[in-house]
Amino acid sequence: MGPSATIAAAVPDSGGKTAPVGLRERMPEVGLREYWYPALPAKKVGTKRPTELKIVGQHLVFFRDADNEVVALARECPHRGAHLSRGESHFKGTLSCPYHGWTFDGKGNCLAVLGEGPESQIPGAPGTRARCYPTRTIKDVVFVWMGTGAPAPIEEDVPPEFFDDKYVVVTAEQTWNSNWRPSIENFSDAHVF
Ligand code: FES
Repeated sequence: MGPSATIAAAVPDSGGKTAPVGLRERMPEVGLREYWYPALPAKKVGTKRPTELKIVGQHLVFFRDADNEVVALARECPHRGAHLSRGESHFKGTLSCPYHGWTFDGKGNCLAVLGEGPESQIPGAPGTRARCYPTRTIKDVVFVWMGTGAPAPIEEDVPPEFFDDKYVVVTAEQTWNSNWRPSIENFSDAHVF
């Protein structure tokens, strides 16, 4: 990125004066939250066990809902924080926690507590909902909204080819042991290799 593209803002420094803040300082370490992110190919999500991914510093679990769509919940169970990534889909469209069996649908609603049976008073009670992250699957790629507000129109964040029948999307996966900022600056957005 060249100097002309630098975004600066004037913020008060500790002495009460204003000092310019460059773009780099405004880039959060774990990434920008209010966006749709490509998560994984839908075919990687089965019907028995969830798939875990960490995106923008958050651990998520992906599984299939009653319509066979890929959905995402926060990894930590709202009961005692056990990892839903170690749970199972004992019943179609749900994911059960491995600890006490709270069982969630694709929107994070607790539908049942395995072991307490149909008389359980827990489903639907306050505080029993798992955090749900909105997802959309387009051309077999699952996108997930990582923001805290209502999802933006996905067309704002995803390349237009995903919405055009003329194009075929081919995905590839690489692991880079690096923070995203130097990776973007030195490879994907570099003007000198
Ligand atoms: S910690 Fe998940 S059901 Fe208890």
